[in-house]
Amino acid sequence: MTQDLPDQRRGRLAGRVAVIGGAGSVGPGWGNGRATAVIFAREGATVFLADRDKESLEVTARQIREEGGTAHTAVLDVTEPTAVEAYFDECERAAGRIDVLVNNVGGSRAGGAVELSVEDWESQLRTNLTSAFLACKHVIPVMRRGGGGAIVNTASASGLRWTGAAQVGYAAAKAAVIQLSRVTAVEYAPDRIRVNTVVPGQLHTPMVEARLAHQRADGDVTKLLAQRQARIPLGFMGDGRDTAYAALFLASDEARFVTGTEIVVDGGMTARCD
Ligand SMILES: NC(=O)c1ccc[n+]([C@@H]2O[C@H](COP(=O)([O-])OP(=O)(O)OC[C@H]3O[C@@H](n4cnc5c(N)ncnc54)[C@H](O)[C@@H]3O)[C@@H](O)[C@H]2O)c1
Repeated sequence: MTQDLPDQRRGRLAGRVAVIGGAGSVGPGWGNGRATAVIFAREGATVFLADRDKESLEVTARQIREEGGTAHTAVLDVTEPTAVEAYFDECERAAGRIDVLVNNVGGSRAGGAVELSVEDWESQLRTNLTSAFLACKHVIPVMRRGGGGAIVNTASASGLRWTGAAQVGYAAAKAAVIQLSRVTAVEYAPDRIRVNTVVPGQLHTPMVEARLAHQRADGDVTKLLAQRQARIPLGFMGDGRDTAYAALFLASDEARFVTGTEIVVDGGMTARCD
């Protein structure tokens, strides 16, 4: 797997404790959370990884341990308030502090305002927005006790503009993630807690083969990839590493003066208006 994710470690998170929610991947290869976990560990962080998919989580942790890093895993649903509270307590007890949090859990369901069911609407908000809210709620007190920290939330270009398909619950939730980050950033800036958002565009992560091609293109992965790539001015699709390196910058001290903002990682897609 490593040839797909070149090792460029520079110790940018040396000695840091990072929690990453959604550190597995829906299919084999580099989802955003898995790439983030591996790159953070390469950069010196001790990583606490959470995902509801035990097997996939273990693939990420194994990769980190094989490379000499330190990874702790926990299987949990990050939309469950009690489980999330207990998890952050557990991380603080184990590591003494939490310096970095990345909220990566998310996923889209197709459907516009008329056809999306109320259940799916609520589930989209829970998965994409409540997950980030709950993690912020429980990590901020820990970061305050530790003297500060960096939170990186994951939105989507669909939270900024139309991206080729109706997915109103997803789009609304991801837009809200951006604003959740901004207001939280302002409120907790005096505590030296920075909060920012990575906004990925249309990437080629395992999610495309595992989910999206069935939802959008009757399982025709080639067709879907061509449609997605055609929207991208740079002419190629990014992948998990592109999200991960943006998250790395925001999590590191290099971003010490950066808070309440977004890095859009989309090959120029949202800048284009045709
Ligand atoms: N791949 C893209 O093109 C793209 C584009 C824009 C935004 N994003 C965002 O990036 C993030 C990750 O995307 P990905 O493509 O790597 O997806 P992915 O599905 O491979 O990864 C998400 C991980 O979260 C886990 N997860 C889902 N619900 C969970 C829950 N309730 N509790 C715990 N774990 C849960 C899954 O098991 C999976 O391992 C998502 O927030 C997604 O919306 C992705």
